[in-house]
Amino acid sequence: MDTLINAAREILETATAIACLTGAGVSAESGVPTFRDAQTGLWSTFDAQRLASQDGFADDPGLVWRWYMARLAGVEKAMPNPGHFALAELAWRMPDFVLITQNVDDLHERAGSGDVIHLHGNIARFHCNRCGREHSLQAEDRSASLPPYCTVCGSYVRPSVVWFGEGLPEDALAAAVDAMTACDLLLVVGTSGLVYPASELPQIAKWAGARVLEINPEPGPLSSMADICLRGPSGEILPRLLGN
Ligand code: OAD
Ligand code: ZN
Repeated sequence: MDTLINAAREILETATAIACLTGAGVSAESGVPTFRDAQTGLWSTFDAQRLASQDGFADDPGLVWRWYMARLAGVEKAMPNPGHFALAELAWRMPDFVLITQNVDDLHERAGSGDVIHLHGNIARFHCNRCGREHSLQAEDRSASLPPYCTVCGSYVRPSVVWFGEGLPEDALAAAVDAMTACDLLLVVGTSGLVYPASELPQIAKWAGARVLEINPEPGPLSSMADICLRGPSGEILPRLLGN
């Protein structure tokens, strides 16, 4: 592992433009559950179609609301881990650094990262499912058995996260694609690489000539395109990569 870390550090030190794509794994050591890890992943216990789709919301809005309120409470009490802090530090060191996350938590921001591109939205923001009007969460919403109603059109308010079958925010996706074509090093951290279109981003960077460094305890579909795979938890590997 030391040899691999050293090789990765050499690539990092010579890179001039770095992009980083993170997934749920980067927040795992903060106690925020991932989606697809066997046993502990959310989608091993909960039904994604019922909890994260328009059909699921239409069938049982209360169930969806209560599930997101419970997840939000978990995110709020979580703290950034050394992986989040290392990425914030890297941004300070590297003038040309873009951080793109599939995570709906704000742990990158709380670790000090600015301008984070959120491909899948933000679990602490809310908008009307019909007219799009933003809703600021009230204390009583948190324990309500049903979602709040939109003050404009009366429809249900929903979390501002991307559900299955929905498109990604266009500006976020466009900025992510730009970062892929502009970087000469892409770090892929803690993502299973199974969810389109985020899963296609590393290929764009690769085609554009970037080197790809994967940090993940487990191999996955993105491993084969990586120049180096560092196998281990990002909270340990990222600080080592920075020489901390
Ligand atoms: P997944 O749950 O699919 O994958 C988590 C990845 O993190 C796996 O590859 C694990 O091996 C890895 N992992 C686990 N612990 C880790 C650690 N300590 N350090 C580093 N890596 C670790 O999560 P995502 O790839 O983020 O979508 O999933 C993508 C999207 O699917 C999510 O954004 C979510 C979900 O449905 C939406 O919410 C729209
Ligand atoms: Zn509305």
